[in-house]
Amino acid sequence: MSGKRLQTYAADGVTVTYDPNVCIHAAECVRHLPPVFDPSASHWIRPERATIDEVIATVTRCPTGALQALRAGDVREAPDEPATATITARGPIYLRGDVTIKDHTGAVLAAGTRVALCRCGASRNKPFCDGTHRTTGFSDPGIPLGSSEKGA
Ligand code: SF4
Ligand code: FES
Repeated sequence: MSGKRLQTYAADGVTVTYDPNVCIHAAECVRHLPPVFDPSASHWIRPERATIDEVIATVTRCPTGALQALRAGDVREAPDEPATATITARGPIYLRGDVTIKDHTGAVLAAGTRVALCRCGASRNKPFCDGTHRTTGFSDPGIPLGSSEKGA
């Protein structure tokens, strides 16, 4: 998970970071808190435009972990318990919880509380989803279309 630079946006009491390398543009953030998340603006995250609770609630909806938010004094987001793996229709597997992704040698590729893993095989950032499934026509007859398709 590297390449583009991590972006940091701070306001009183909260700091939001954005990792463009793992954003798949599911737009959860933009849909739920448009005053704060405005992709048309150059400074696209404005945490000062909402309460800290609203910012954190929206950030935790980000399925890929591209967005992270910490209150002042916190060192880590509280992971979902129990951890879950959600197989989206025509898209990635969303992991939520205290997650560590390792390769076959045991090297840690990622550790976090929200991760999207590629299921279609076409991502250029494997094992992470990069949104390419949307352009390849990936489908899986075993997974019926439903609400999980939205945002995937
Ligand atoms: S992946 Fe996360 S940061 Fe990217 S658009 Fe979706 S919710 Fe926003
Ligand atoms: S599932 Fe998203 S790129 Fe493969």
